[in-house]
Amino acid sequence: MTEFNTKLIHVPDGEKFDGSVIVPIYKATTYQYPSVERSVRFDYSRSGNPTRFALEQQLAELEEGDRGFAFSSGMAAIHAALAIFKAGDHLVVGDQIYGGTFRLLYQFFKQWGLEITAVDTRDLRAIESAIQPNTKAIYFEPITNPLLRVTSVENVAQIAQKHDLLTIVDNTFLSPYYLKPIPLGADIVVHSATKYLSGHSDVSAGAVITANKKLSERIYFIQNALGAVLSPEDSNELMRGIKTLSVRLDRQVKNTKRLIQFLQTVAAVDKVYYPGIQNLEGYRELHQEAAEAGAVFSFELNSQQIDPVKFVDNLHLFALAVSLGSVESLVELPSKMSHAELSPEEQLAAGIKPGLIRISVGIEDIKDLITDFKQALAAARKE
Ligand SMILES: Cc1ncc(COP(=O)(O)O)c(C=O)c1O
Repeated sequence: MTEFNTKLIHVPDGEKFDGSVIVPIYKATTYQYPSVERSVRFDYSRSGNPTRFALEQQLAELEEGDRGFAFSSGMAAIHAALAIFKAGDHLVVGDQIYGGTFRLLYQFFKQWGLEITAVDTRDLRAIESAIQPNTKAIYFEPITNPLLRVTSVENVAQIAQKHDLLTIVDNTFLSPYYLKPIPLGADIVVHSATKYLSGHSDVSAGAVITANKKLSERIYFIQNALGAVLSPEDSNELMRGIKTLSVRLDRQVKNTKRLIQFLQTVAAVDKVYYPGIQNLEGYRELHQEAAEAGAVFSFELNSQQIDPVKFVDNLHLFALAVSLGSVESLVELPSKMSHAELSPEEQLAAGIKPGLIRISVGIEDIKDLITDFKQALAAARKE
């Protein structure tokens, strides 16, 4: 099988028995040896579990990598990917990466001796000038949150290869349905599988996919040594979510574009951030390597005309919640929620205005989503 939509449905047959069309949930924590002399495929669930293994093989196939590894959260996956480095190593990282990754880098890995330089990875010259003799990798997100800035995987990977560095890509926002970083030159892909891959706000999971055997061995060693593995039950749920990844995303992206088209007719909307629509920033760069821009977008409400807090509070269908990538629509006010720990000056320097709203679009009927926007805009209009 070669086509992506087929790979979403058909996990490797090796883990199915007695005609079961899905992989069973293997609860066993330990596995019996036939004899002392004979080895077993799995011996202990932290080191390997058939349900998790099926998922991991599927992740590798979807991302066109060598091996996949499933973890109990996106942060556990990122921790494992970065734990291949040692004290004294230097990383160049995107300056708009997920806040939890920043915290992991600056409040954990810094203490164990990693050196870090954050740059705007859209600027290839900034990347080049941040590279030092001890630099080992470039870590970034091809689409950032909440301003949806686009960085080309291929361009970054070319710089990395020139300097003998690894390219590590967080592909959470696009998923392998829209972007495959490994064929574009990335060495390691990480995911918060809590988001699009599982898709239903009911699984916390992470994934690492490696491009070659040497890296696979390094990540496997860390996965087994640290032990933050995904449970067999959650591996099963994640495999179930993955089956509908493209069906969900097709609808979510369609809804996203329709919502933006509506917002573009609203005078109180100052700016829309979404590289999936022509004439919006990042469109050309993104479409050189990704099929679509996913189903998260942001927009700025003119806070002289509309009270952004009231707008968000008055939405009924869009749940006021962090996270993204699920079948239900969510709304978030970065200045008061995800980026609240930044001072107003720091927020503005990061491009986050008080009226910036971030939406994760679900699969509801678009007519209802637009109606909800309309009534919340009316309720939040200033006199
Ligand atoms: C881009 C990105 N990477 C990683 C993470 C962390 O994943 P998790 O929350 O599953 O640990 C998140 C969470 O929001 C994210 O948005």
